[in-house]
Amino acid sequence: MAWPTKPSGTMQIARRAEPYVTEAMRRRWTDEVLPKYATRLGALMPVLHDVQHAYRHVPYQAQLEVAQFLGISPSDVLDTVSFYDEFTVEQRGVVTIGVCHSIACEQCGCGSRALLDRAAERLGIGVGETTDDGTFTLISMECLGSCDTAPVALLNETLHENLTVESLDRLIDQARTAPAHGGHH
Ligand code: FES
Repeated sequence: MAWPTKPSGTMQIARRAEPYVTEAMRRRWTDEVLPKYATRLGALMPVLHDVQHAYRHVPYQAQLEVAQFLGISPSDVLDTVSFYDEFTVEQRGVVTIGVCHSIACEQCGCGSRALLDRAAERLGIGVGETTDDGTFTLISMECLGSCDTAPVALLNETLHENLTVESLDRLIDQARTAPAHGGHH
C-alpha cells in the first residue's frame, strides 16, 4: 500500500553500505531510459520500476540514490513512490497476488470479493499485508485491462483470467511449492 506520511527532517533512514542503485542499473538508465524522456523527472517511473522489481520495494535509501542519480529532489521521488501502488517502501513477498477489484471483476463469476476473502483466509493475512515468511503479499488492484475475462488477478507479472475460488486456490498452492519459491516455504 502507499506510504501515508512524509518523513520529517528528523526521520532516521535505515542504511546499508551497498548501494541499491547498481552500476548495471546506472548504465541501463543512462543508455536506454534517459534518452527517451525530455526531462530527468520523466524517467522517474521506469527507474523506480526497475528498483521495485529488483528488490520488491523501494526503501528510503534507494529513493535518495535515485534522486541523486536523476538530479531531482528526494521529495519528488517520495511523492511518486507514495502515490503509486506499484511501489512500496516495505518489502513485498516473493509472490504478489493482485486481485482486480474494479467493476467487471467485482460483478463477474464468483466476484473479486470472494477471491480476496479466500486468498486472505488461505494466507492468513489481510489485503495489503505480507505473510511472515515473506512468500506472499496480497493486494487489491484497479482494472487490469482484462474485463472480458473477469475476474482476474496478477501473480507477479502473470495475468490469470476467468478465476474461480478453486482455481485461485490451485494457483496459491502452485506458487507455494514452485522451486523458485521453495527457499521461502
Ligand atoms: S475490471 Fe478487472 S480487469 Fe477490468
